[in-house]
Formats: sequence, C-alpha cells, structure tokens
Amino acid sequence: MSDQEIDAHALHASAKYKQFPDLAGQVVFITGAGSGIGRAMADAFAANGAHLALLDINDASLEAARAELHRTFPQVEVECHVASIVDDVAVEMAVAAAHARFGRIDVLLNNAGISANKPTLELAPEQWRRAIDINLNGVFYCAQAVGRRMVAQGGGVILNTASMYGTVAAPERAAYCASKAAVVMLTKVMAVEWAPQGLRVNALAPGYVRTALVEELVQSGRMDLDALTRRTPARRLGQPHEIATLALFLASEHAAFINGQAVVADGGWSAYSYV
Ligand SMILES: NC(=O)c1ccc[n+]([C@@H]2O[C@H](COP(=O)([O-])OP(=O)(O)OC[C@H]3O[C@@H](n4cnc5c(N)ncnc54)[C@H](O)[C@@H]3O)[C@@H](O)[C@H]2O)c1
Repeated sequence: MSDQEIDAHALHASAKYKQFPDLAGQVVFITGAGSGIGRAMADAFAANGAHLALLDINDASLEAARAELHRTFPQVEVECHVASIVDDVAVEMAVAAAHARFGRIDVLLNNAGISANKPTLELAPEQWRRAIDINLNGVFYCAQAVGRRMVAQGGGVILNTASMYGTVAAPERAAYCASKAAVVMLTKVMAVEWAPQGLRVNALAPGYVRTALVEELVQSGRMDLDALTRRTPARRLGQPHEIATLALFLASEHAAFINGQAVVADGGWSAYSYV
C-alpha cells in the first residue's frame, strides 16, 4: 500500500467510528480480537487513538489483525498474545506483559466466547464444560487479572461480552444461555464490589451479529438466516461495528454513571414477544 492509500484507509476507518477524545492514548486489552466483534473493537479503539493489547487463541487471525492495524493506524501501538482465556496462568502472563509494556490498562474488552447450540438432551458433559470454561471461567480469569491492576491504579472500565441470550432464553442453548446469564451476574458483582475503587463494569448483550460465529451455525444448518431476519423487528442482523460503537460509548466518560448493567443491542429481538 502506498502512503496515500494508507492515509485514505485510516481516514475511512476513523470516519466509521464516532470520536471519543477521552479514549485517545488509553490502553485497551481485547480478548477474541482476531475476528468478528473483537476485531471490530480493535479498529474502533485504534480509530480513537487508543493503544491495544490483543489476545486470541487463533495465531493466524491475530497476526492478520496486527498487520492490518499497523497499516491503517501506524501511530497506534499493538501488542499480541496467543493464548486461551481458559488458561488462567497464560491470561495472567499476558495481562502482566501488557501492564509492564504500557504501565496501565484502562479498558478490558472481555469478549472472547463460543457458541454452543445443541438439544439439551444431547449435550455431552464435555460440550457443557467447554462452553462454561470459555464463556464464563475465561471471562472471570481475564476480569480478575485486569481488575487487580485497575484497582491498584484506581480506575478502569471492564466490558464483558454477554449476549441477549444472557437475559432471555431460547431452546437448544442451555450451556450458552447459562454461561451468558452468569456473565451478566458476574458483571453486576464486580461492578458493585469495585465501584468504590473507581472501576466500572458493564456487559454488552448483543443480539444476532453477522460474524464467523453466526456464519458457522448457518453453514452447519443449525441456524436459519431468513427466519432470524424475519424474527428481528429491525429486519436485519447486527454488524460488528455497531457493537464496537456501543463499547466505545460505554468505555468513554459519557457513560461515567452507567455501572453494573447489561446493555442489550439486538434490533428489538428481546422486546418482541410475538412469534
Ligand atoms: N455474533 C453474534 O451473533 C453474537 C451474539 C451475542 C453475543 N456474541 C458474543 O460476542 C463475542 C464475540 O463473538 P463473535 O461473534 O465475534 O465470534 P467470532 O467467532 O467471530 O470471534 C470470537 C473470537 O474469539 C476467539 N476465541 C475463541 N475461543 C477462545 C479462547 N478460548 N481464548 C481466546 N480466544 C478465543 C476466536 O478465535 C475468535 O477470534 C462472544 O463472546 C459471543 O458469545 C456474539
């Protein structure tokens, strides 16, 4: 890419995201940053001038993200960690390394997660454990490791990615709904526990968003895209950048009095009871 092309690309990416000047220069740790919503979050915060520590289990997608971010936002520092969030020792090492490099962590986007769609009677213990391990235990390990640093520095923002399915139920999603509902309650506990130390902890609760996670379910026949679109009052699925924009707002000083909430962004899905 020529310098002019890089400038044009960066301008486009910056124009896509609303600017929150207080986020410039902040240090943002993002899990599941290699793809989907986490990848869009990396763009959104980079476009606001934040420095990034990215973690993902997928080496290749993380490297691709680093290269793209470097091209588009050359002024933004990006550090990458290949690790699974279920490995509490690896999480602690990654958080310690990011903290050592940047001197602080201002925002944690605790986003990595997996789908788990299966009839409850067929859900094997191993599949249940995997979903709980990634969607709940991993989220706890990351929040605790970063929370320690934020309490010590006297402030910070944690946004846990739950789901609208942490607030309303759907069949064949026992492990997913249970893990995401637990993330909502974990969010509330950490919010009330750490608010006196200057932290805010909220949950993002997206409805259906077009990412690899959804594409995989559609491709395997476990999800009907047309039916989902018809069922959503907005008559469309969400886009990753819409969830990233919500994260920008909740991380910014404009949301200074919002704490312990699960903010649903679902095109009206969970408000709609008529089938
Ligand atoms: N896409 C949706 O419709 C939707 C709706 C509600 C909530 N969510 C939630 O949003 C979050 C992001 O989902 P997405 O749609 O962007 O999915 P995605 O599959 O596109 O991206 C998830 C990323 O997390 C990484 N990851 C998976 N397991 C990991 C682990 N153990 N350790 C570290 N990284 C790991 C993956 O490699 C991938 O890069 C998830 O928590 C998901 O449950 C998604």
